[in-house]
Amino acid sequence: MSYILRSSTPSDAAALAALGTDPDAPRGLNEADLFVYPRHETWLAEHGDAVIAAARLCLAPHSGLALLTDLAGETAPLLALVGELTQHALGQGAATIQAAAPTGSALADALGEHGFTVQRRVVHIRWRLPSPPPGDPPLGIAFAEEIPDPEEYARLSVAAYRGSWDWLFDHWGGDIAARRNFARLFESPRDERFIGARQQGELIGFVSTGSGEVVPGDFSTFGVLVRPAMRGQGIGSYLLLRALQVLASRGATAAEMHTTAPSQGDPAAVRLYLRHGERKEDVAILRRSGHS
Ligand SMILES: CC(C)(COP(=O)(O)OP(=O)(O)OC[C@H]1O[C@@H](n2cnc3c(N)ncnc32)[C@H](O)[C@@H]1OP(=O)(O)O)[C@@H](O)C(=O)NCCC(=O)NCCS
Repeated sequence: MSYILRSSTPSDAAALAALGTDPDAPRGLNEADLFVYPRHETWLAEHGDAVIAAARLCLAPHSGLALLTDLAGETAPLLALVGELTQHALGQGAATIQAAAPTGSALADALGEHGFTVQRRVVHIRWRLPSPPPGDPPLGIAFAEEIPDPEEYARLSVAAYRGSWDWLFDHWGGDIAARRNFARLFESPRDERFIGARQQGELIGFVSTGSGEVVPGDFSTFGVLVRPAMRGQGIGSYLLLRALQVLASRGATAAEMHTTAPSQGDPAAVRLYLRHGERKEDVAILRRSGHS
C-alpha cells in the first residue's frame, strides 16, 4: 500500500513514528513529504530518533523525502539528519530525494554541495491571531465544519489546482494519479479538520483548520481552494478568515502555512494569504536523483 504523509507538526511526527511501531499501520510510503521544524530543538531531540526510525521503515523506491526547516544558524545537526536519511533512502533505491531549506541559507548551500538542485520556491506565511472577523458569508453558499469525503475532496482538488500547479500533476504522473494521491491525503489519519463551502449541496471550496500544533499555540494550516468557476466572489477570503477564527478559538496565537511561490503556484492564493498575513523567509525545495 502506498501512502502519503506530511509531517509538519509534533502530532504528525507521532503519527509517523506510529508507522514504525504499530503493526496495523500502513507501510511503504511512495511519496513522503516529511516536514520537520527543528528550530524547536527540544522537539527534535525528543522525536528525532523516532522520525529517523520511521523514515527507515517507510521509505520505499520512488520516495521523496522533504525536510523543511526555518532554522537559522545551526545547520550541523540538520545536515547530519539529511545525510542519514539521504543515505538510507539511497540504500532503499529511492528514485528522488527532496529536501527543503530557507532560500539562500547555509543549509540550502550545503545541500547544493550534496547534489541537490532547487526545484521550486515556497512562500512561508504567518498570521497573528486573532485575525479580522470573516464578516457575512457570500450569498447562497453554506459553510460548515466537516469530515472530508476523500473522493469528493480529491475531485475538487484536481479541478482547483489544475492550471496553476501543473508541476504537481507532472510530478505525480497525471490527473488520475493526482486524484488518487489527493484522496489519500484526505484519508490520512491526521488530526485535521475542514470547513467546506457548498452551493446547493455541491462542494465548491474548502479550507483546513489546521493539522496540529507547530509550537504551543501556533498552528499550521492547509491551503484554501475554490472551484475555478466560483472564484472572485469572496469565497476564498471568507474560508481563510473562518479557518483562522477557528484556530484562534482553540487558543492559537498564530497560524502558518507554506504555499508554492507565485511563478509556480497560484498568484491569487499568495495575494489572498498576504492580505492578512506576513511573509516570512521563502523556502527552496531541492531535489536530487537517487541514482547519481
Ligand atoms: C486562491 C483561491 C482560493 C482564491 O479563491 P477566491 O474565492 O477567488 O477568493 P476571493 O474571491 O476571496 O478573492 C479573489 C479575488 O477576488 C476579489 N474579490 C473578492 N470578492 C469579490 C467580489 N465580491 N467581487 C469581485 N471581486 C471580488 C478579491 O479582492 C481578490 O482579488 P485579487 O486576487 O486581485 O486580490 C483560488 O484562486 C484557488 O482555488 N486557487 C487554486 C488553489 C490554490 O492554489 N490554493 C492555495 C493552496 S496553498
